[in-house]
Amino acid sequence: MIGRWRLLIVAAMIAGCAMIIVTAQQPSPSGASGPAQGASYTAQQAERGRVAYQQNCSGCHGPNLDDGPSDAPPLTGVNFVTFWGTRSVGDLFNYIMDSMPPATPGALGDETTVNVVAYILQRMGAPAGTTALTSSVTTTLSAVGRGGGRGAGGGGRGGDPDAVGGGGGGTPMVFGAGTGAGGGGRGGALGDFRGVTVHGEVKNYVPVTFEMLKNPPASDWLVFRGNYQGWSYSSLDQINRNNVQHLQLVWQWAMNDSGTNQTSPVVHNGVLYLVSPSHIVQALDAKTGDLIWETRAGPYQAPGGSGSPIRSIGIMGDKILLPANNAHAVAINARNGEIVWETPLSDVAGHATTSGTIVVGDKMLQGMTGCGPRQTDGCYISAIDVNSGKRLWRFQTRAQTGPEANTWGSLPMDQRGGGETWIAGTYDPELNLTYWGTAQAKPWSFMNRGTTLADKLLYTSSTVALNVDDGKLAWYHQFAPAESFDLDEVFERVLLDAGNRKLVFNAGKAGVLWKMDRQSGEFLGFKEMVKQTVWERIDPKTGVPTYRPDVFEMQYDKPINICPSTQGGKNWGAMSYNQPTGVLIVPLGQSCMDFYVRKTVGGGNGAVRRFLAMPDTNGNIGKLAAYDVNTMQEVWSHQQRAAYLGGVISTAGGIAIAGDIDRYVRAHDVKTGKVLWQTRLGTSAQGFPITYSVDGKQYIAVMAGLGGGSPRNAPGAIAPEIKIPQAGQALYVYALDDQK
Ligand code: HEC
Repeated sequence: MIGRWRLLIVAAMIAGCAMIIVTAQQPSPSGASGPAQGASYTAQQAERGRVAYQQNCSGCHGPNLDDGPSDAPPLTGVNFVTFWGTRSVGDLFNYIMDSMPPATPGALGDETTVNVVAYILQRMGAPAGTTALTSSVTTTLSAVGRGGGRGAGGGGRGGDPDAVGGGGGGTPMVFGAGTGAGGGGRGGALGDFRGVTVHGEVKNYVPVTFEMLKNPPASDWLVFRGNYQGWSYSSLDQINRNNVQHLQLVWQWAMNDSGTNQTSPVVHNGVLYLVSPSHIVQALDAKTGDLIWETRAGPYQAPGGSGSPIRSIGIMGDKILLPANNAHAVAINARNGEIVWETPLSDVAGHATTSGTIVVGDKMLQGMTGCGPRQTDGCYISAIDVNSGKRLWRFQTRAQTGPEANTWGSLPMDQRGGGETWIAGTYDPELNLTYWGTAQAKPWSFMNRGTTLADKLLYTSSTVALNVDDGKLAWYHQFAPAESFDLDEVFERVLLDAGNRKLVFNAGKAGVLWKMDRQSGEFLGFKEMVKQTVWERIDPKTGVPTYRPDVFEMQYDKPINICPSTQGGKNWGAMSYNQPTGVLIVPLGQSCMDFYVRKTVGGGNGAVRRFLAMPDTNGNIGKLAAYDVNTMQEVWSHQQRAAYLGGVISTAGGIAIAGDIDRYVRAHDVKTGKVLWQTRLGTSAQGFPITYSVDGKQYIAVMAGLGGGSPRNAPGAIAPEIKIPQAGQALYVYALDDQK
């Protein structure tokens, strides 16, 4: 069924194609002529649809249909109505059945999906009636409930419903009315309680110092990705390539299922600090899995979410530092879970955070997302004082002054969108610089931004190197000027020294590994790790890419085929630097997309994607590969059908740990990529693995997680045979079997 509908739907999605003409021949939206069908929906259907929507869709599309935290487009508002208003009820029904929710298309079943369509119609301003809606209705969405000649109350009901905001005689759109906007589905049984929910005390707590953060003891995991340099590496070697097959599960801990889990725990002195979705923070005995204390820092999230992971927490002194999704910084007492302070990063609503944090001495660094156009506060990296919670500095990722500020064409400042920092940076203690990646401008396509492909839009899609004391820019380098396909360059910057140089490596969704001098910002080289077709050329001296000629001639609603897809040749899953062997081990994705730019009118990212297998990959979506940091040549690669979903870690024991969408976690030999051990989790392996030791025994902790946007949706579309339980977020901890 999926295959059949997919073709139909794609046809239906393309404005101006034959399918649309067919639907447009159905009763006229104006209802002014001909015998109208009088299609409607009942109030009961819409109410049931609202409940189903809140349970299954609001986590991505937002409780109010247009306030989702992820890349899911609004299901209300002028863009949505412009596109879907002229299409039939059946088309929308089929689209949802075929593709939503992305992880389990069609899971709602026919009746509930019809109810959700009824709810969407209600939100489009269509009045409820006495006739129930069915999936076979061919009336356009704009015409439902407005059938001409029925004498529906209120003159002008038959008017043009697309006249959003109440153009003369039209029915104004109903925003929020009667839908419990912002409320329904958020709180649930948890209510709005904030504070300690399980009382306990970490005995003999040892405060964490800046020195410890700079040189973390091998037994601890204090910093996101293991150390300030972002190596995702541990010098522990008790578990090694010769004995890893004797790993066994020691304990596991179920995590809250509402919201996406892509986190990384902190371990200090035998205590593991973990944040679950909905800001539930727990201290656990890292050896036994016993709970010591639990705090609910709020806010709670709707289930099924895709875009609001908390990618890490930090630790400093006696505090756990939580970068909360609502763009707040929260400090929690590491001994007993009491909330110490909370600071909003912005005075303006609408911002969010999914970056996680790194804590540099007494500064907590935190990124920002949700920076659309008209976000007057801009988009920035923030430093917060760990002791007082005061804001110290912010760095705006949309250049405010100088020649860089003039790279946005004639766009006024408040129309400049994007430049999010949704992955926390790294830090070089010697240079005292912190390195962050920035996301692309918004909306996604230059066509919708009011700029051209020649407008670079600084500092989007760049590395920015900032002085930690004051947030001042030391240097920047832009990898993807005018990026237009949602191919982020935002991910981790890995700092290492090789060949007498201080280097910084990074890779974006285009799947290109970039090598820079981290002191001077000089470009040093690149390596295409998967097939990419966005750029026809990358200058080997400067790194400046040249777009394919047809990118310049793109048109609205016409597909352009791009590799990789927004799944990312490389995505948020961090690569590991295995220092003993001098390789970067990178989790990669192999898929392509047909990218349809859709005109944005009121907001949104403005594109629809159809995900496709990548040519010449044998359908292998997942690729784990090692690259020599000197030559940048590929040393080995392991390819498989299932996509990788999380970070990779490697150790001095010669193993690399990586997990996939199909629930497998594997230990690979860092020299050959060979699989040495594997196990299977309750749902997809997703998050950042860690390793630590307690009382001389080494442990490896991995996570199962749900949600996640394109890295999950693209493989879901290409490999629908991989079935994934939609519950089961959890932490799993392994160690060697003592008997062996
Ligand atoms: C995991 C996140 C997620 C969930 C849950 C989800 N969606 Fe979506 N939805 C998306 C994304 C992402 C897109 C954009 C797809 C694309 O770009 O091709 C989308 C697109 C859509 C569209 C097309 C919008 C347009 O502008 O054309 C509709 C309609 C839709 N979703 C309805 C639903 C409904 C109804 C549900 C609940 C049953 C749901 N979605 C659940 C992520 C989600």
